[in-house]
Amino acid sequence: MNKNLPIGIFDSGVGGLTVLREFLAVLPEENYLYFGDTARVPYGSKSSKTVIRFSLEVSSYLADQGIKLLVVACNSASALAIDDLRKLIPVPVIDVINPGVSKAINMTNNGKIGIIGTSATIASGAYEQVLRKINSKIKTISRPCPLFVPFAEENWIKHPACKLVAEEYLETFRNNKVDVLILGCTHYPILKDVISEVMGPEVTLVDSAESTAMEAADILSQNDIAARENNSPFLKFFVSDLTANFRKIGEQFLGRTMENITNVPVEKLEKYKTVKKQEIDKRTKDKN
Ligand code: DGL
Repeated sequence: MNKNLPIGIFDSGVGGLTVLREFLAVLPEENYLYFGDTARVPYGSKSSKTVIRFSLEVSSYLADQGIKLLVVACNSASALAIDDLRKLIPVPVIDVINPGVSKAINMTNNGKIGIIGTSATIASGAYEQVLRKINSKIKTISRPCPLFVPFAEENWIKHPACKLVAEEYLETFRNNKVDVLILGCTHYPILKDVISEVMGPEVTLVDSAESTAMEAADILSQNDIAARENNSPFLKFFVSDLTANFRKIGEQFLGRTMENITNVPVEKLEKYKTVKKQEIDKRTKDKN
């Protein structure tokens, strides 16, 4: 396999750029293709059937471009579509749930962990399942916090309304004295300051982006597919709808300027609805 093939990262929209940001810090020599399904965001309020279909289409598109690793940077897609993606996509696929859980278990002292995420992620129980597999004694409390997503996208992170909503959402975690809170949604790291202010300094906030990047580094080295010394790594962005705000919000999430943005209309993605595993397999192999 060509070691300089890019890593594919996808999310329902801009949120996954918080994950890409950590990848750029941990693996700066790699090339990246980022896909934000901006035409169909949010995933977090949709049914699992729809989230699985969208995730398969976007991932198949990325696999078709030629990638060596796929990162499902969306918690909702990680919670609902990961098994299907692993069956269809012929390169290693990593999610953002397992790395976050491992980190949370390492950080807790009292064994009480809180989980916040989109409605789809929390309803799936995916975090609890992974947590229990690793340590059945851990107590968990979870709650969806859907209003956090628009607050992050509007950059209302210091607005009093955001603090009010955070107080309402997080009360149950404070009452139950969790000492670790998992930020189980790509947008929540943007709201870290307000969440931490409400939860207090004794509660550790876990965002899985950094642990996911470390896991990717391990997988690349185990498979001997880490990029060779690369003086000009490339970064390409694909969106299913090039909205006026994408670059502005994106740059805030990513922490750097964004060039190279291509619009891939939904009709092109829907083409992958009928593409079978063998075809994706063959096309990816031809590219690799
Ligand atoms: N990226 C989604 C997640 O991490 C949040 C936005 C959405 O609902 O699509 O779950």
